[in-house]
Amino acid sequence: MPISILPVCYLIASVTFIIGLKMLSKPSTARTGNLIAAAGMVVAIFATIFLYKYNGKSLGNYTWIFSAMIIGCIIGVLVAKKVKMTAMPELVSFFNGMGGACAALISIVEFDYLYREYRTVGSLFSDVAPLGHYLAIIAGTIIGSISFIGSMIAWGKLAGKFKDYAFKGQHLFNTIILILVLAAAVFTYFSKTENANIYFFATVALALLYGVFFVLPIGGADMPVVISLLNSFTGVAAACGGFLYDNKAMLTGGILVGAAGTLLTILMCRAMNRSLMNVLLGSFGGNAKAAAATKDVHGNIKEISVSDAAMLMAYAKKVMIVPGYGLAVAQAQHTCHELEKALEEKGVEVKYAIHPVAGRMPGHMNVLLAEADVSYEKLLEMGEANEEMKSTDVAFILGANDVVNPAAKNDPSSPIYGMPILEVELAKQVIVNKRSMKPGYAGIENQLFYQPNTSMLFGDAKKVLQELLGELKNT
Ligand code: TAP
Repeated sequence: MPISILPVCYLIASVTFIIGLKMLSKPSTARTGNLIAAAGMVVAIFATIFLYKYNGKSLGNYTWIFSAMIIGCIIGVLVAKKVKMTAMPELVSFFNGMGGACAALISIVEFDYLYREYRTVGSLFSDVAPLGHYLAIIAGTIIGSISFIGSMIAWGKLAGKFKDYAFKGQHLFNTIILILVLAAAVFTYFSKTENANIYFFATVALALLYGVFFVLPIGGADMPVVISLLNSFTGVAAACGGFLYDNKAMLTGGILVGAAGTLLTILMCRAMNRSLMNVLLGSFGGNAKAAAATKDVHGNIKEISVSDAAMLMAYAKKVMIVPGYGLAVAQAQHTCHELEKALEEKGVEVKYAIHPVAGRMPGHMNVLLAEADVSYEKLLEMGEANEEMKSTDVAFILGANDVVNPAAKNDPSSPIYGMPILEVELAKQVIVNKRSMKPGYAGIENQLFYQPNTSMLFGDAKKVLQELLGELKNT
């Protein structure tokens, strides 16, 4: 019996996805893992184009397929080369939306195929369309549509094109739309074949509406949860496509993305102290609510000069650098690495405390510091960092705010209450670098700035770091 090469290619692709995903879990192997999985995807794509046969016929349409691929590749490469590190989350969201759209379109095309075949038979759609097949089509359509429009809204919000929008009774409204989506999906299946398309497209429209209202009210500190949840939706929708086409590589890829996205969502929920149900109903605290909900923070702040800060750090035994979004904005990662080396030359132990949601995307600080060749061993996860905080002489906060806000522990009225934070206030001295007293992403005041052991070092992170380096040379 001749061995069919296509399933072997799919098997190779599936294995590369699994290996790639495993390697993505460590910063040191992530790049190679990404390349391995991408190579597997190339194998799967070319195998499908050249080896797949339907009713004994090859795919054909090569001009269309390769034109689209070339245009897509050019756009992808240009966008990836041009994108700034700080704009990565919105790009991820945009790409995820494109994945959701593709998955939804696959299901819509499959429905259309069934509809055209059976629309004139004059029976119920359920009499002609196998239930399993229909379930895969409708799940792919609904989940893909929500993922597409939700990711586009998330992209627009992160890019500053839309603002959070919420209204009274939003939970109920969202729940009603979700029920209507499911009802339309049931009606499609039990309608007359000639009318099935009306209910089907109503399902698509309602799913898109749900996607909009699901993401629009979400804001503040909760965006990362939603982006990873939408990512898992895209995976599930793609897996439905794999099921429809009996394409093992697509099925495996979709399931892996769905599972990885779900796990990341759960981990993010824990890091942000949100329940998944709360996420699904689209009910988060946003920036507008945040300011009103938080206790007034009073007191005097204490400023520190660059030379005093340099002195404190130079004579410390251990300095813990806490990077945040401001470090990415200032693009000061290389200068930060210089400071680390200068301090180490003076015999100071330097480590970095990494909060899981510092910055604007999962792993943002790891990626930023890796770009500056900071050793992975120096990066402490939140739990480890908190254990070392008491033995830290100087906690140096570089453009971080929400992730070091003690309101998360002490103020039940705060929208970030319950979110695990880096307990920098336990260090002997805390130096906070930022440009002003403006709040961070969650839009709330920070009690840390008024604590007796905290000193503020105002200025752009890169400029301040350069000045600190200059001072350290003279210390
Ligand atoms: P933020 O709380 O956003 O605070 C960043 C601080 O950096 C700001 O207070 C800002 O103060 C300062 N800053 C900005 N530009 C600066 C510059 N050039 N030099 C020095 N400082 C500068 O950041 P964070 O502590 O990293 O927390 C992240 C927040 O974003 C969390 O609320 C998190 O939930 C949310 N979020 C996270 C993600 C992911 S997945 N990581 C995604 C979306 C949202 P000034 O303006 O006064 O300088």
